Amino acid sequence: MKKEQVVNCQFSVWYPIFKKHTIKSLILPLPQNVIDYLLDDGTLVVSGSDHNTQQTHMNNSDSNAEEDIQWSDDETTTTVTAPEFPEFTSKVLEAINALGGRVFPKLNWSAPRDANWIALNSSLQCHSLSDIFLLFKSSDFIAHDLTQPFLVCSDQDSPDPVINYELVLRKWSELIPGGEFRCFVKENKLIAISQRDYTQYYQHISKQEEQICQAIQEFFSQHIQYNFLDEDFVFDVYRDSLGRVWLIDLNPFGEVTDSLLFSWEELASGGEISQQQVSHRETCSSGPWQKLRTVSLVITWFSLHAQEGPAFRYTTSEVTVQPSPCLSYRIPRDFVDLSAGEDAYKLIDFLKLKKSQQEDSEEEEEEEEENAPQ
Ligand SMILES: Nc1ncnc2c1ncn2[C@@H]1O[C@H](COP(=O)(O)OP(=O)(O)O)[C@@H](O)[C@H]1O
Ligand SMILES: [Mg+2]
Repeated sequence: MKKEQVVNCQFSVWYPIFKKHTIKSLILPLPQNVIDYLLDDGTLVVSGSDHNTQQTHMNNSDSNAEEDIQWSDDETTTTVTAPEFPEFTSKVLEAINALGGRVFPKLNWSAPRDANWIALNSSLQCHSLSDIFLLFKSSDFIAHDLTQPFLVCSDQDSPDPVINYELVLRKWSELIPGGEFRCFVKENKLIAISQRDYTQYYQHISKQEEQICQAIQEFFSQHIQYNFLDEDFVFDVYRDSLGRVWLIDLNPFGEVTDSLLFSWEELASGGEISQQQVSHRETCSSGPWQKLRTVSLVITWFSLHAQEGPAFRYTTSEVTVQPSPCLSYRIPRDFVDLSAGEDAYKLIDFLKLKKSQQEDSEEEEEEEEENAPQ
């Protein structure tokens, strides 16, 4: 995957091309001071006209005197002022109103899917700029867009293209997860289709396998094929209750995009994706739960679409209910780093702690043995 392919998958690049086949949306340029605010790791104070938050730092007078740690000399009160972006705020409100009052927000590539749990309604539905800021500031996916959009590109030596950051507001639509599919296109050929919410079993998919596959293939050949700037890409679709197919998103053909029920090796190999092979994806095959959970291996079996056309994979059994892939974002970062072995220093500290605990308990045992009546 090249940097240019990532650039081409920005919302503002593909939306004008496929406008007729996707959800109505508005794009607003993000001013630099808003970007700075989103990147600022400080206190989360959500902007809004009278949202000034009082933060009080106190010396911990409640604690027991012997252990009294002076956090600060005096009792001080700091007023943290929410940054104000009056012009941008009014543009956003205007856009939200134009889209019916409820919007789905995203940046150039990503939506804050990992942060929906923090919102009051546990959803990405937003009514105001402060709803959007709360989600964006809590999301690693948004931070990825802002800080390392070209992370796994193969042409790392070439200079990073200039990115104009944008706030994308999409009209809120109640999408049923069982109607969402991800489609992989290589050399302008639709090679594979995967159920997007692979953690669940949807009976209607196995019942309507043929129709779904056919509808998506038709949608691809009529509206998508040869119309995009690249010949390798991944597009997401939604098939509504009337059987109509809509474009939801366009993503780069590469590892930044979740390959769902396929693997990137099979997708990128260029060979035929086996129609006969029965594949599996282990429960929690990625992320911290892999090691934290003791759930026994549950194998997900896939039905493979036969013969010509794209390989079509979906979860076909109720025993495969899996935790949502975004659940891992709800636990403390240290815990995740430790379990995934991503931060060697944390692992070393943890092992040292374990070792000293072990030594302590061995010493205790020895003492007990010495003191034990002969
Ligand atoms: N306009 C919308 N209204 C409500 N939900 C949406 C809307 N657009 C997308 N979604 C939901 O959010 C999910 C992620 O959207 P998507 O644009 O693909 O973001 P990302 O690229 O970050 O995954 C989709 O799978 C869909 O379930
Ligand atoms: Mg996407």
